[in-house]
Amino acid sequence: MTENYKVLARKYRPTTFDDLIGQEALVQTLSNAIQSNRLAQAYILTGIRGTGKTTSARLIAKALNCIGPDGNGSMTTHPCGVCKHCQDIANDCHLDVIEIDAASNTGVDNIREIIEGAKYNPLSARYKIYIIDEVHMLSKQAFNALLKTLEEPPERVKFIFATTEIGKVPVTVLSRCQRFDLKRVAPDVLETFFKKILEKENFTAEDEALKIICQSADGSVRDGLSLLDQALAHCEGKITTSAIRKMIGVSNKNALFNLFEGLLAGDAEKVLTLFSQSYLEGADPKTLIQDLLFLVNFVTKVKVAPKLAEDFSLSQEERHRAEEIAKTVPLSQLSQIWQMLMKGSQEMFGAFSPYKTTEMLFIRICYASSLPPLESILSDLKKKELMPVHSSSKSALSSAKKEAPAPLVQKQDVKDVQKKEEQEEKPAAPSPGLNQNTLVVSKVSDIVKRAKEKGEHLLAYHVGSVSVEQLENGKFIFSSAKELDKSFQPKLKAFLEKETNTLWEIEQKEGVQNAPPSLKEQKKAFQSSIRKRLSSSPVVKEALKTFPQSEISNVRLSQDILEKDDVEQDLMEEDTL
Ligand SMILES: Nc1ncnc2c1ncn2[C@@H]1O[C@H](COP(=O)(O)OP(=O)(O)O)[C@@H](O)[C@H]1O
Ligand SMILES: [Mg+2]
Ligand SMILES: [Zn+2]
Repeated sequence: MTENYKVLARKYRPTTFDDLIGQEALVQTLSNAIQSNRLAQAYILTGIRGTGKTTSARLIAKALNCIGPDGNGSMTTHPCGVCKHCQDIANDCHLDVIEIDAASNTGVDNIREIIEGAKYNPLSARYKIYIIDEVHMLSKQAFNALLKTLEEPPERVKFIFATTEIGKVPVTVLSRCQRFDLKRVAPDVLETFFKKILEKENFTAEDEALKIICQSADGSVRDGLSLLDQALAHCEGKITTSAIRKMIGVSNKNALFNLFEGLLAGDAEKVLTLFSQSYLEGADPKTLIQDLLFLVNFVTKVKVAPKLAEDFSLSQEERHRAEEIAKTVPLSQLSQIWQMLMKGSQEMFGAFSPYKTTEMLFIRICYASSLPPLESILSDLKKKELMPVHSSSKSALSSAKKEAPAPLVQKQDVKDVQKKEEQEEKPAAPSPGLNQNTLVVSKVSDIVKRAKEKGEHLLAYHVGSVSVEQLENGKFIFSSAKELDKSFQPKLKAFLEKETNTLWEIEQKEGVQNAPPSLKEQKKAFQSSIRKRLSSSPVVKEALKTFPQSEISNVRLSQDILEKDDVEQDLMEEDTL
């Protein structure tokens, strides 16, 4: 870099409102206010970093104080840029435009004195303007002084505040300000803007390279410009996609790894701090969760099948870091985090605040991580030789039971998996095969199961609630203590005939004494007897002690027990009628 090289963000800082991209609402509101001469006492600009808050604050200062080239102009959204006010503001040396960076002056009481200077009239300009950047960082005393001034606003004084964290600004202050929300700038708007800059810099860029930069900027013009700066330094004359991939991949992963390690360690404070940092830097919570999912997937593969684990976006060093993590983290924890992240990513859709939703998700994960790992609890229990009951194959417990098996897949399969995943993004069409299956009815649960598969939930519910007296040879004879909807019988008949391809006779008996229990009642009785047996089992007692506040919420039996005990599997079906 040559000595007088200026970073793009400074070189291309907008000098007029026309140069400001993506903030049309602000410009419109402001010009209306100036035209109708209805200025607010104070403005507050908020938005993520690099969207033009500081820039706009200075532009507003110019707009309010510009006197035009001939010295007779009035307020304007097109400040001339040549009058002494415009120039002094641009050069940061206007005596009536006072810029304070609250971030670097926290708690310093001379801020208070500066604010109290607002009592005095401007020296030469129309307005004395206080620009307070990162205003949320002001000390309490400073806010109090500010509030006093805002309550009795001197006529020729204006305040312009800027902040990335509007939530930290006292409501008393907010209520006295007109608020502007600066938007994240859309990728295509950035693209057009950056193309113009590249032209001026005598550079070209591959389309895709530019797109990656604009995506990664995630709405922040400054972040985009810094990436562009880096790209200019990396490339000669032309920015290539491969160079950008390398450049961007390398710079973001570090934060991701830190976050992941925090989650594994259950360190909520660290995680939330890191998260808020990356959010302020423009990270999109959804993308972040996705990136974490990729990382969990990769670390898991490194753990169970290291030869198959490939991720070309990772550098040698990062791969090494993933291997280190894989050595210590138990498989059950990876699987647990995976499940929680998946669930969290689904909750993100329609969430009132993706940021807060993600925070809660991370807190949940940290809490789960801070519990003793399931492996160690189980092996403790095993040591005490208290393992009569198996867990079902679906739960994380089972992954702890066996050593992780290395999946028997070849490289080709891995590629296929990826291909398949891409295809599966689209909602799967209902499998036609099911419709052609004729149903064989030997017990009530056969009907219930099929009805559920077909989305006939009400029918399934009713079949499960009646007492079935006879069920064979196309006959369904039942009784019901409760009154049933009239349509039940014809519906059941039509359903059975369609599914079994034979004629059915449905008959309801009245006034039956000692009716057999319905499927629903059988399930209830069975579950509660299992529950009773379980809660007196020493393993469960031990487990309940190990996890205070836990309770038996659902009981599932493993396949071998089901077969051995000849238990009706349907009775154990998880989703009850
Ligand atoms: N809306 C925008 N239009 C054009 N450039 C912008 C915009 N927002 C930010 N920039 C660029 O980013 C740099 C930093 O902007 P700044 O106003 O300091 O952002 P903020 O105060 O919101 O963090 C500016 O010098 C400018 O180059
Ligand atoms: Mg700023
Ligand atoms: Zn001017």
